[in-house]
Amino acid sequence: MKHVLELPALYQAYQEIGGFFGARVTAIRDYLDLRAGARVIDIGCGPGYILRHLPADIDYVGLDIDEPSIAFARAKFGTRARFEARYFDEAAARELGPADVVMMNGVMHHIADDDLVATLRLVHGALKPGGVLFTLDGCYAPGQGRLEKWLLDNDRGVHVRSAEAYRTLLEAAFPDVTLHVRNRLSRLPYTFAIGVAKAA
Ligand SMILES: C[S@@+](CC[C@H](N)C(=O)[O-])C[C@H]1O[C@@H](n2cnc3c(N)ncnc32)[C@H](O)[C@@H]1O
Repeated sequence: MKHVLELPALYQAYQEIGGFFGARVTAIRDYLDLRAGARVIDIGCGPGYILRHLPADIDYVGLDIDEPSIAFARAKFGTRARFEARYFDEAAARELGPADVVMMNGVMHHIADDDLVATLRLVHGALKPGGVLFTLDGCYAPGQGRLEKWLLDNDRGVHVRSAEAYRTLLEAAFPDVTLHVRNRLSRLPYTFAIGVAKAA
């Protein structure tokens, strides 16, 4: 299952059938204010389908360490956005910032604590003052059923955490963090931790 999801089109089909993609669209609509002309950096953009649900007049660049995902995103959406196969490191933060919005949809749970805090600090530095980091990840919560727990335990990202653990990591880099916990956003049972962190 995990290897099959390495194929960009199958990954996207799974996201849509399970309702996980719709969850991203709803969360962005509910918690992110995207203005015309906004500079957006999407870290871990995957196959890039989220672009279909963002305003057409933003300045979007998607990054991912997975080359097949970036090749797929370029072929499908390359006429309206830029996609780069690279890590979000100091050079990327310098070259691509300052941004109004950074998105990490389903990405924090792929990154271990120390690396994640270092990445979040770079994100803070790449945002304009008052700019926003938007995050969305599956999270552990009390009372979850067997299927939900199985989905979280078997995710390709091996750093699925509780909502509070995500908050603690976001707060290590950002002064102003709001965390929303939502559990009716997808077709399959799943709890999402959605972070909105504002740069100083
Ligand atoms: C669960 S997928 C999410 C893809 C897409 N954002 C979405 O919402 O469907 C996680 C993506 O993050 C990428 N990724 C993991 N660690 C990363 C890192 N350090 N920098 C950039 N991308 C990363 C993976 O290659 C993968 O494509």
